[in-house]
Amino acid sequence: MNSKKKIILDCDPGHDDAIAILLAGKSPYIDLLGISVVAGNQTLDKTVRNALNVCQYLGLDVPVYRGCGQPMIRDKQVTAGDIHGESGLDGPVFAPLTKKMEEKHGVQFIIDTLLASEGDITVVTTGPMTNLAMAMRLCPDIIPKIKEVVLMGGSYQLGNVTPAAEFNIITDADAAHVVFTSGRKIVMVGLDVTRNALCYPEIVARMGKIENAAGRLFVDLMTFFNKTQKEVFGWEGGPLHDPVTIAYLIDTSVLTLKEMYTEIDIRSVQSYGRTNCDFFHYSGQEPNSFVAVDIDTEKFWNIVEDGIRGYGKVQ
Ligand code: BDR
Ligand code: CA
Repeated sequence: MNSKKKIILDCDPGHDDAIAILLAGKSPYIDLLGISVVAGNQTLDKTVRNALNVCQYLGLDVPVYRGCGQPMIRDKQVTAGDIHGESGLDGPVFAPLTKKMEEKHGVQFIIDTLLASEGDITVVTTGPMTNLAMAMRLCPDIIPKIKEVVLMGGSYQLGNVTPAAEFNIITDADAAHVVFTSGRKIVMVGLDVTRNALCYPEIVARMGKIENAAGRLFVDLMTFFNKTQKEVFGWEGGPLHDPVTIAYLIDTSVLTLKEMYTEIDIRSVQSYGRTNCDFFHYSGQEPNSFVAVDIDTEKFWNIVEDGIRGYGKVQ
């Protein structure tokens, strides 16, 4: 196990993002400094609201910042209502929202927090990478301050929006390009491993036995998520993509990584948004990323269970 790690979680909740917040929120191994929100699974108004709702429901005193509502360059904001529903977090019923977002912009929060740091903060992104890329462009001085970027996105095999591309990358491929060319350490947690973190009904039942707010939230979220994942992809249990990033930070041995050169396709039509990972080192290019190639799913679900248990007995 690693010691407590400081993180910024940049996300677009989203069912699996919500579970990532849940896992990070009370982990004894993670210090969650703040949550910056981006448009992705739904529009920005909705993803911000969802982040606030999740924090309030779980009793997490973590600041939530509103970030970018559209990609850096492309006009069209792609959302994923087919998977995450009209609200972006359909399923659970939340009490009236009283938690407020911070006034500072999410990009400014990322900049200020990194500049004030001692180079010991990991930036975790589980949505389109717009906020982080904008922060890098606005204030390049933050780049050497980032300990590492751990992102859910991409795939060295098949995509989930097109055969080539994964959602978080294709929705703002230019942003991903900025981050992958930044020179910082990048850990890419792609569909190659998250598609093995399938939340089968028996997993939902297992977590549902934990009688606390986190257990209830997990069940309500996953019941909806599994329904749409079955309709769209035919899975019996939906892949719990985003929490794999947090699980990795809690216990790095949950993933096997392979160092490779990864380039984001921002030029072609058919493969736009693909993470071209040079698995066999054909290009001779210096590796710029550690790409997850295997996951210990038993360990992963144990981490999820521990994370839920961390919320105590009854709330
Ligand atoms: C990613 O896309 C989103 O819908 C999920 O929240 C996850 O971050 C998986 O491709
Ligand atoms: Ca996400």
